[in-house]
Amino acid sequence: MSIISEQSAAEFVKGSGAFMIADRRVAELYPECLSERSFIVDSGEELKSFAKVETFIKWLADNGCNRGSEIVALGGGTVGDMAGFAAAIYMRGVKFHNIPTTLLSMVDSAIGGKTAVNVGSIKNLVGAFHQPTNVIIDIAFLKSITDNDFLSGFGEIIKTAAIADQSLFNMLLNERDRVLRREIGDIITRVCNIKADTVRRDPYDNGIRVILNAGH
Ligand code: GLY
Repeated sequence: MSIISEQSAAEFVKGSGAFMIADRRVAELYPECLSERSFIVDSGEELKSFAKVETFIKWLADNGCNRGSEIVALGGGTVGDMAGFAAAIYMRGVKFHNIPTTLLSMVDSAIGGKTAVNVGSIKNLVGAFHQPTNVIIDIAFLKSITDNDFLSGFGEIIKTAAIADQSLFNMLLNERDRVLRREIGDIITRVCNIKADTVRRDPYDNGIRVILNAGH
């Protein structure tokens, strides 16, 4: 898995021919990031259902998605979880790229290959480990997230610094102003690398990866 932060989401998608699933709100705000073949959805826990996966899979088949095709998720955690699961099971698995658009999904759910749907009221009951080939971190998306969503993602950053990187933790304490201005590209990269390193050591969550659940 590669974390790409030097290329914009629009550049990554342009001409890729990928089959995209995109959050409706993101699609409206950032039409330049859509693929020519995009399936638009409303994000949220309701998206993570077998019924929604089936609808998406039928759309993939109707539009000629085959074993050599690639699926791209554009959205927050629920879009990435559902799209990753569909990519894991479509024709027994096709390549998947994730473009997270919320801070929380950039620093947590987009990295690590955990995909899932909910069954009834049980979250993430059915899923698969299916690593994204690329995770594209484009901090331009941070301009349009609410303060609440920013803080929610920032909580995950503080947690990761607290469990794994004392110098990052000190930086967060000392550089409050630029954090409030959302100038945190370098911080996001550090946190993504910590998560990716942890996942590389324990991809199937049988050991050290449990430290990432601190605070969950
Ligand atoms: N969110 C924790 C993990 O990916 O393992």
